[in-house]
Amino acid sequence: MKIRFGADYYPEHWPRERWETDAKLMEEMGLDVIRMAEFSWSKMEPSLGNYNFGWLDEAIEILARHGMKTVLGTPTATPPAWIIEQSPEILPVDSKGRTRGFGGRHHDCQSNPVYRAHIHRFVTAMAQHYKDNPNVIGWQIDNELGNSHNDLCHCSSCRSHFQEWLANKYGSIDNLNARWGTAFWSQTYDKFEQIPTPMITPNSHNPSLLLDWKRFHSDLIVEFQQFQIDIIRDICKDQFITHNLMGFFGLIDYFDLGKNLDFVSHDQYATGYFDNPQPGKSPQRLGAELDFVRGVKQQTFWIMEQQSGPTGWEILGRTPRPGQLALWAAQTVAHGADTVVFFRWRPCSFGTEEYWHGILHHSGVPGRRYDELKNMISQLAPLMDEFKGALPESEVAILYSYEQNWAFEIQPHHPKLNYTHQVQKYYKALYDAQIPVDFINHKEDLSKYKLVIAPLQFLMTRKMEDKFKDYVKQGGRLVLTMRTGVKNMDNVCMTDGHLPGGLGDLLGIEIKDYDCLRAMDMGVEFEGKAYRSEKWCDIVSPTTARTIASYTEDFYAGTPAITVGKAGKGEAYYVGTEPDDNLMREFIKLLTRISGISSLGKAPEGVELVRRRTSTFDYIFALNHTEEIQELEPAADWQQVLGEKELAPYGIAVFKVKR
Ligand code: GLA
Ligand code: ZN
Repeated sequence: MKIRFGADYYPEHWPRERWETDAKLMEEMGLDVIRMAEFSWSKMEPSLGNYNFGWLDEAIEILARHGMKTVLGTPTATPPAWIIEQSPEILPVDSKGRTRGFGGRHHDCQSNPVYRAHIHRFVTAMAQHYKDNPNVIGWQIDNELGNSHNDLCHCSSCRSHFQEWLANKYGSIDNLNARWGTAFWSQTYDKFEQIPTPMITPNSHNPSLLLDWKRFHSDLIVEFQQFQIDIIRDICKDQFITHNLMGFFGLIDYFDLGKNLDFVSHDQYATGYFDNPQPGKSPQRLGAELDFVRGVKQQTFWIMEQQSGPTGWEILGRTPRPGQLALWAAQTVAHGADTVVFFRWRPCSFGTEEYWHGILHHSGVPGRRYDELKNMISQLAPLMDEFKGALPESEVAILYSYEQNWAFEIQPHHPKLNYTHQVQKYYKALYDAQIPVDFINHKEDLSKYKLVIAPLQFLMTRKMEDKFKDYVKQGGRLVLTMRTGVKNMDNVCMTDGHLPGGLGDLLGIEIKDYDCLRAMDMGVEFEGKAYRSEKWCDIVSPTTARTIASYTEDFYAGTPAITVGKAGKGEAYYVGTEPDDNLMREFIKLLTRISGISSLGKAPEGVELVRRRTSTFDYIFALNHTEEIQELEPAADWQQVLGEKELAPYGIAVFKVKR
């Protein structure tokens, strides 16, 4: 069966008589999969052990009669009121020591043993009930894990789990004291039981404690998911397991979270969440999130929630312009989604998300959004079978590390320095040049890429240094940037030489001084032209490197801003500052030119080109993110299989090219 488009559906919000009408409209629209039940615990188990799956069985059955399969969510983001009444200790505690109450969702502590027992009982019952249902094809564990858990949880259960995690990692308290540097401010611990979770204190916590807390928290959520995966895998032999990620959401290491899933899914909201002035997220930000999600397993993925109308809870965003919903959905397919599930079928008439719109109106009557998406599905769905599973085959990779991100969340240096934003600056220059990019983590093989960009490699290990060196010696081109090799993995500053430490030889530089620019910016000369850079300047002394850009101001005017060192068959670049968009564009141009990296083609500004590559064909998507008509100039061998040469405002075209 072909599973390409779907919707998130809440039959329990609507009268039973309506379900048939919904199923008919879904079928006519071309949907083949529906996700349900991820928040319906109280409906499925109204009181302890009193299981009520009848309504859901019926909904699944009706949908199946209309040709649709079901994905079920485990409802563990919404423990019902009766569980909380019996065991209020399940409620999470924030860093100010306040218990967060029932009444929203995610009112749970993920380490709490009583809650785990409830989950074990319920998920087992649900899995047993649906294991042989031929219309249930898979499972989503929980929903957007980590969402709403930002500041959580500091309850006594989480505290002792954290202490146990630390005992496991460090073996002895003396070892922890030495590695964290607890000699500072008299923080030496006698035993693991004394170590706090980072609750509010008169001032800042030890950065080593904070980094371990972030690691622990990520591990806890990964383990919370694994607890449910184990139950379902054991019972349901033929159904897949996935989870819906949130792009660059930073609380959980998605490389770890994705590891034991059959594939990952992602929730894509182009206008963002609550602070969403139109046009919301930029096209390249959307592209970056999708490429990142593809990178989590280096596999194609599902969109489990794709925006299908105006979004918002108490405050609303702008209404997507005609064509935009279809464009955004096609963009996810272009970047590697094999299935796109729209959130949501119809906006609810009650509850917190009444104004989070769906494909239908509140009235249940199909309108502009239904017609637009139906039309897009009819054109795109047949093509999707041809390139299912196909990746873009990028020649450039950007290294993404959660630990680096966390270290900069703890100590941003500059008030506006943000790891993920910095990574996206490099991405944007490649995106604008129509060059496909992979995001990879540090465990991935670098050798298949002509160019690897690794911004802000702040925390460094000998192993990673060797990996970078090997890559360059074998002929790779590597870009490292400011604040590389500053600290060890304990989040403690390195002291055994000048920055960038063990990578100094590879890069052919030494850094003995630096300047946090704060409100200033800096002039940079590159290829005879003047540019600006911001946030930070490393004051670099080349040893063997060649200078390719220099600062033009302040006491370090004339010193290098960008250098290149040769090692073996390759080259290692160092960027000592944060280039502005213009400098970044020119620098990336230089890098891709000398690396022999080709772009997908030429397109007018605002038109994005994306590739999915099978063994025999390239499928090139042209996506018009502007509200104007755009004229394409496809290469002679591009055979147009969708859309027109003249792209309508927010229009889509697909070309098929023989390899
Ligand atoms: C997230 C959640 C959905 C819904 C939407 C809209 O993506 O997964 O359940 O809450 O946001 O707020
Ligand atoms: Zn807790």
